[in-house]
Amino acid sequence: MNILNIFFSSTGNTEKVALKIQETLREMGHTVETVKITGENVAVDVLKYDFVFVGSGVYGQLPGIPLMDLHRRLLQKYSTAGEVKPASPRRSSARVVVYCTYGGVHTGINEAIPAVKYMGQLYDHLGYTIVGEWYVVGAYRTEALRDRSIDGRLGDIRGRPNEADLQDVAEKVKGILKASSLVNTY
Ligand SMILES: Cc1cc2nc3c(=O)[nH]c(=O)nc-3n(C[C@H](O)[C@H](O)[C@H](O)COP(=O)(O)O)c2cc1C
Repeated sequence: MNILNIFFSSTGNTEKVALKIQETLREMGHTVETVKITGENVAVDVLKYDFVFVGSGVYGQLPGIPLMDLHRRLLQKYSTAGEVKPASPRRSSARVVVYCTYGGVHTGINEAIPAVKYMGQLYDHLGYTIVGEWYVVGAYRTEALRDRSIDGRLGDIRGRPNEADLQDVAEKVKGILKASSLVNTY
């Protein structure tokens, strides 16, 4: 199985999750390619991979701009190449887990849902089956927004994602891979 682990992280929270995903996959004996989106220069052919983990922090209810730019470019490229078809038929072995880290100061998980839905659309258009949508709490780490880690809808989220959050991610990775390999044997 070709696995892509691609993410955008501005203040480091999503990177911690992505590295936990990588570590867990490697412990399970899988080969995984991890790509950190940094800007215009990222060239990745997601169609080479039959399992993708894609994640971002949430900023103004959406993923990071470099990730959205990448998704726009890829959608355009694959549309031109005829890979995006009406009704988006499924690619039989293609699966994706979409996740975010978020602080939810105002409306909790509701302000993270648009980001996850946004990220899933590139893959759904391409025929990947979305097998997981994960929401991981991430503290506000910039000086200007630090208070939001204490006084928001989610309460005190300082230090998150913490060890327990990352362990939860590891368990979910194991679970989703197990579920996916069972599907393959039918
Ligand atoms: C500039 C900025 C804007 C943010 N906007 C939101 C937001 O709209 N909704 C939300 O739930 N969290 C928001 N957050 C919190 C981040 O989503 C959270 O800290 C996340 O873990 C950041 O991921 P990163 O460290 O990988 O960049 C914001 C954080 C920053 C720094």
